[in-house]
Formats: sequence, structure tokens, C-alpha cells
Amino acid sequence: MSKFYITTPLYYVNGNPHIGHSYTNIACDALSRFRRLKGDKVLFTTGTDEHGQKIKEAAAEKGMEPALFVDTVVPRFKDLWTKLNISYDDFIRTTEERHERVVKKILEALYKKGDLYEGEYSGWYCTPCESFWTEAQLLEKNCPDCKRPVAHIKEKNFFFKLSKYQGWLIEYINSHEDFILPVIRRNEVLGFLKNPLNDLCISRPKSRLSWGIEIPFSKDHVTYVWFDALINYITVCGYGDNPEKFKTYWPADMHMIGKDILRMHAVNWPIMLHAAGLKPPKTVFAHGWWKIGEDKMSKSKGNIVDPHEASDRFGVDAYRFFLLREVPFGMDGSFSEKALISRINSDLANDLGNLLHRTLSMIDKYFSGIVPKRRNIKTADDITRALIENAKSLDAKISSSMDKVDFSRALSAIWALINNANKFIEQKAPWKLSKEKKEDELKDMMYDLYEVLRIVSLSLWPFLPQTSDNMIDQLGLKAAKRNMKDLSWGLAKPGTKIKKGKPLFPRIET
Ligand code: MSP
Repeated sequence: MSKFYITTPLYYVNGNPHIGHSYTNIACDALSRFRRLKGDKVLFTTGTDEHGQKIKEAAAEKGMEPALFVDTVVPRFKDLWTKLNISYDDFIRTTEERHERVVKKILEALYKKGDLYEGEYSGWYCTPCESFWTEAQLLEKNCPDCKRPVAHIKEKNFFFKLSKYQGWLIEYINSHEDFILPVIRRNEVLGFLKNPLNDLCISRPKSRLSWGIEIPFSKDHVTYVWFDALINYITVCGYGDNPEKFKTYWPADMHMIGKDILRMHAVNWPIMLHAAGLKPPKTVFAHGWWKIGEDKMSKSKGNIVDPHEASDRFGVDAYRFFLLREVPFGMDGSFSEKALISRINSDLANDLGNLLHRTLSMIDKYFSGIVPKRRNIKTADDITRALIENAKSLDAKISSSMDKVDFSRALSAIWALINNANKFIEQKAPWKLSKEKKEDELKDMMYDLYEVLRIVSLSLWPFLPQTSDNMIDQLGLKAAKRNMKDLSWGLAKPGTKIKKGKPLFPRIET
């Protein structure tokens, strides 16, 4: 049995969850469910990033202490993950004691080793981004990231020797093809590493910010929020606490992130791990961003997509489907209600919903709702054989797409089978077979359509878990423990009583 450890970023709790957060979690959920189908031992983790300036300010705006404030925001994330059927195994908060312990342990180890040193920093600082900038990096005297004003500061801090490991990291990236995916992101990091790395300031003086994990060797400093947050990936799989678990799951198989936080994950993090004597994760996968129409999503534009609202209006699985199907994973996407409704009406209501509904209606009508027995496949005609071949090759197509983290291709393969089956109905015209009393042919055909639907219902589980359950129920089957092996052709049992229900996806009129 192989293991699969996948993580999402830890989301800042200074705002409500939005489409971007839900995108990563839905993608990780689909991969986790797929691996479970294959029989892998999966650890899927998510959580919240709760320290630092941003959170302190958000708490102050509400007139609350940060510790109390974060407790009020975390449930909004947890509730959303429950609603979207995100099957995570552990939720980690950076304010938890288990995490603080590990952060301090890593800090102490690196300090002892001489990879952390005290120095004086004098330069420009962007408070909202918590970033230091040199004069040359400023953009018209403002922060080059958020374009807001910066302040000149001079203070004692602790620095991490990133520069010492630059050569090692370049060599590591060059010799591990799958370490940074997709390839454009790998090239982006290699390009960035052509310039010398600056050492990383990993502390903040308490006089300026006290909401963080105290540096164990300096009462006057707390840990920089990013240095603290990245460490969650080892905390949550048992580092320093549960050696057995840590040995089982580390290194992580995949850190799923958005493209904006690539450098932290593909430069700082592997160096932190290497310096601490730990292996880097196997893959850091940076996905693209959702734009709203052609615009960047932002508070000031007021165009933030709320996943709670979108999934209430259109349905959880329709929302999941749209995000996974609409763009090749890794690229940017454009979200609009029009595009979402069009996917619901064409792919979900028309193709999938109709196939299930008309097939079950025919089994009801011709065979009183009992799945008939088919004759030996050897007697089948060419169009039937083509349909069966298509169904038989589905698991290989899904597996190869999922191994490349290509959800839209996996879904296209499932839809190719669905559309093949719809066409098969038109071509074979079962209503004629019935009129002509071609009982055996009708039985074969109903069995084959039922079998296609059974295979489709299982293969949809990683992507559309509720729909998969609903289909399995209507097919008269039990949603027992699923396994990839059940995608094999011919496992449907003649004699099964179907339970036709409501159409899966009602059409949305515009
Ligand atoms: N707290 C850090 C991550 C620490 S991980 C150890 C953070 N949090 S965040 O809440 O600001 O963002 C989390 C994720 O949301 C990032 O992966 C980011 O790429 C993603 N997205 C934010 N806006 C997005 C879109 N519009 N579209 C897709 N993903 C986007 O960064």
C-alpha cells in the first residue's frame, strides 16, 4: 500500500473564505479521494494561518483580542469545507500548542547549527505585507507588491542563512523534475535563483508586533509569520511528537498552492527543511488564479466570489465541477455565472442527468425496474463493442490524467463515455427494438447502459461525491467502500432493482 500526503496552504483568517481558497481545497479533495479509490493510505491536511500583522489589524478593527478574534473566524472555514464535502483528515491552526512546540524546536536547531544569526536591519518595511525592501526594490517609493507606502526602520532581528544553501537548492531543482510543477513555475523559480539570495529575516521585534510565536532564544522577538506557517506541514504529520506517523508520511507528496506563494514554498521552505536535516516535499504544485470575468478579484472591486453563496445557489457539485472542469489545472481561469450555468445545463443536466434518467426510465418500462442479464459479449455488434471498450479504458485514462494533476482531462474522459452512451441510445433506438419485440437485444442494451452508468457513478466520486452517491442510490447499489477495481466491466449484477429518483441536475433557465 502506498501513502499519499497532500496539503493545502493555511489560509489567513483576516477575511472570509473565497473562491481561491475553495479551489485549492476542492482540487486536493479530488486528488485525495482518487488516491483512496486506488487504495492508498491518504493524509490530507488543511488549516489556518493565524499570526502576524494582518490578523492583529483585522482583530483590532473588530475591537477584539487576536486570540479571541481568530476563534470566531476559523468556523467559517471549517463550515465551508463541510459544505463542500472536503474530506480532510486534519485541520491545523498555527495557534495550536502542538505547532508552537515544533516551530520552537526548529528555531532552536537552526540557531544551534549557526544557520540563524542576529543582525541589524536598516531599510524599508511594508507593514501590511510584512516584507523588507531595499531602496532599489521600491516602486515609486512604495511597496513593489501591494503598492502601499513603506516605512524606514532600523532594528535588531534574526536572519536565516538562505544564501548558504542556494547552490544546493539549484542542484536539487535541476535533479528533481517533479519538485516544482507545472514546468513554467519551475522555470520561474530557476530564473529567480539566477540572482543571489538574500538571507531571510525570520523575526519581528515585540515592540512592533507581539502576535506570534516567541523566539525561544530572545524574549524580545516573535517569529515571522511565514517561517511559522510553513512549519505546519511537518507539525501536522507528527514531527517531534509522533515519530511513527512522521516516518510514514514525510516527505509530503504534494503541497498544493496558488502561484503567488510559490517562492515561499519552493525556495524558503526546502532550504529550511534541508538545513534542519529533513527531506523536501516531493512536489510543490502551483495552480493558477481565478479572475472574475477579466478582472482581478479584490475587496475594492467588490467582486469577491463567496463559495458559500455560489454553492447554495447552484449546488455543491455543480460548483466543484465548474472549477475542476473549466480550465486546465495550473492555468488561470475566468469565473462568470454565465459560464457556470452553461456547464450545468450542457454537461450536467443534458449529458449526465439525461443519460441516467432516460436509462432508468427504460429499465423501468421494459423490465419493471430490474437489471436484465445480457448475452455473451461475443455476439455484440461494433457500436456496442466500441462503447464497452471505451468504458473498459476509462480507469486508465483517469489514472494517467490524475497522475498529471489534470482534472479537466480526467473529467473529459468521463464525459466522452457519457456522450458515447447517449449516442449509443440514439443509434440503437431501443424504442424500435421494443416495438419489434427484439427482447434479447433490448436486454443486452439495457445491461450495457446500466453498466456504463455504474462505472461513471464510481469514477465521478473524487470530483462530485454527492452526485456519485445519488447515482449509486438510483442504480439500486450500496455506496459501500469504493475501489478503483470496481471500475472493471461486467460487475453489475442482473436482477438488481433500480430506484429511479429525481433528475440529478435541473436545467437552469436564464
Ligand atoms: N497564509 C498564506 C499561506 C501560508 S501556507 C503555509 C496565504 N494565505 S491566503 O489566505 O492569502 O491565500 C491562500 C491561497 O489562496 C493561496 O494559495 C492563493 O494563491 C490562493 N488564492 C487567493 N486568491 C486566488 C484566486 N483569485 N484564485 C485562486 N487562488 C487564489 O497566502
